[in-house]
Amino acid sequence: MAPFCFLHFTDPHLPPPGGAVLGGDPAPAFAAALADAAERHGPDGPLPASFAAITGDLVRDGEPAAYARLREMLEGLPWPVHLLLGNHDDRGAFRDAFPGAPLDDGGFVQQSVTTPAGTCLMLDTHAPGRPEGELCAGRLRWLAARLAETTGPVLLFLHHPPLPVGIPVMDGMGLRDADALWEKLAPHRARVRHVFHGHLHRPIAGSWRGVPLSSLRGTAFAVSLDQQPGAATVSHREAPCYALARASGQDLVVHTVELPDARRAP
Ligand SMILES: [Fe+2]
Repeated sequence: MAPFCFLHFTDPHLPPPGGAVLGGDPAPAFAAALADAAERHGPDGPLPASFAAITGDLVRDGEPAAYARLREMLEGLPWPVHLLLGNHDDRGAFRDAFPGAPLDDGGFVQQSVTTPAGTCLMLDTHAPGRPEGELCAGRLRWLAARLAETTGPVLLFLHHPPLPVGIPVMDGMGLRDADALWEKLAPHRARVRHVFHGHLHRPIAGSWRGVPLSSLRGTAFAVSLDQQPGAATVSHREAPCYALARASGQDLVVHTVELPDARRAP
């Protein structure tokens, strides 16, 4: 059976047209990543992808005009794009801009996507006005129900990492309900294949309580590993990137695709 491929983008942090993030517009790098992926992983490319997921911080600060800009940038792509919310998003503005986006019965931006690689469960960890992530009882109930109705492999997508990574300022704004999330996942542990997350603005590979996970620098800026507590050090020296995940049988490989030509001036 042919491998099943999909794309992971994260943290585009799009401002409204004419706006800036940390002194520049991150839109060109995001556009370059989308264009590169569309060319390499469209239906006629060597490794066609079946969907793309963008794991949150879609826009700079929840601005409606930024969501409109995102909607325009996503038009015409050769795969469906599943959008997740991060701390910089605004649930109401997002729903207004993307009225067709799937929601759970509580209005949260959560969905289940059935694929040959497994059931992709996409979670909404947005907490209005707060940088850390939350999963309230309602969102966790939704997750438990989706897990209960499936028996095959599960791929989890969310913005906030469920574990500390050793960068104090980022660890201070992680997922505060990680234990409650694990409580729901633990009975299904053997079939949770991978966790895809964002938020850290760093290429990350590792495992959480034995479950493999990965993240990306994304396209807007990079967060430094070596930094002082309380000071988020960011840079534009590193290349924007996206990932291609390739599932084959019981195996899953995540390739990071770096775009050095799309770097903003340091
Ligand atoms: Fe971010």
